Amino acid sequence: MTGPRPRVFVTRRLPSEALARLAERAEVNVWAGEMPPEPSALRERVTGVQGLLCLLTDRVDASLLAEAPTLRVVSNMATGTDNVDLAAATGRGIPVGRTPGVLTETTADFAFALLLAAARRVPEADRFVREGLWRTWDPGLLLGRDLHGATLGIVGLGAIGQAVARRAQGFAMRILYVRRSATPPPDSIAAIPVPLDDLLREANFVTLHVPLTEETRHLIGRRELEMMKPTAVLVNTSRGALVDQKALVETLRSGHLAAAALDVTEIEPLGAPDALLTLPNVIVTPHVGSASVATRLRMAQMAVENLLAGLEGRPLPNCANPEVYAAREGDTG
Ligand code: GLV
Repeated sequence: MTGPRPRVFVTRRLPSEALARLAERAEVNVWAGEMPPEPSALRERVTGVQGLLCLLTDRVDASLLAEAPTLRVVSNMATGTDNVDLAAATGRGIPVGRTPGVLTETTADFAFALLLAAARRVPEADRFVREGLWRTWDPGLLLGRDLHGATLGIVGLGAIGQAVARRAQGFAMRILYVRRSATPPPDSIAAIPVPLDDLLREANFVTLHVPLTEETRHLIGRRELEMMKPTAVLVNTSRGALVDQKALVETLRSGHLAAAALDVTEIEPLGAPDALLTLPNVIVTPHVGSASVATRLRMAQMAVENLLAGLEGRPLPNCANPEVYAAREGDTG
């Protein structure tokens, strides 16, 4: 890179290896707070920068982009990009980076952890012991549901959905799935494609692995929840707004659904007095599906590589809006 080093803003402290690589090539300003920058602080910090490395907690909307005319690249350290207005970025010729692939297996591990925890009531059992209630072995104590041999409904059989399916095969589960893409999954995955309604009616466990878009918002609403078996368990490690949370609380309260395990909620963080937290058959974790030491480091490194590519005018290795390049060619041609 020739000329002055580009300026970048990073919205949270990241593993030092990743930041060190960025600092070799750019003037780096890292938000030092433990909480994300407020929208006004974000606006202020992107003024005059060429690169923004942000997280899923940062809203990068059309008005922010409009106020940052020097911005050449946005790199989101997440596989999901629903926090970024991709159309507005494309319109401004700004490529947006994302970090798919590296978190697939880690997130599938966590989805499976939630399936098992909800099926076998692990958090309830732990609370029971901590509360001093363990007095004897009891034939009827904390009975759960078997995961092995049960029917698993996977909504979204992309990379993470397939990784969950591979784990489910090890548990001899029957797998039903819904998939946007017309291409069938690899032959190694023995799974049956079905319409969403059939999946909801038949599955003992339903796990969500679709991105949040205008089409998938409240994909699982009251109607869908009521279709599920009263003994069924819903797991969500994708985005909270895929599920109508109010309807979920009511369905769980009325006993029309056995349990839910959610790593994501409609509003994050979930406030302590939230109705979901009053229900014993709900597990909520703080959006930690990809949170292993190794995976978070690889995500940060990938986000840095995307950012550097954008700053240097190279195509991003993982771009959420590749159409931005066609639009650019159109401009110059
Ligand atoms: C996490 O939710 C991600 O999108 O990477």
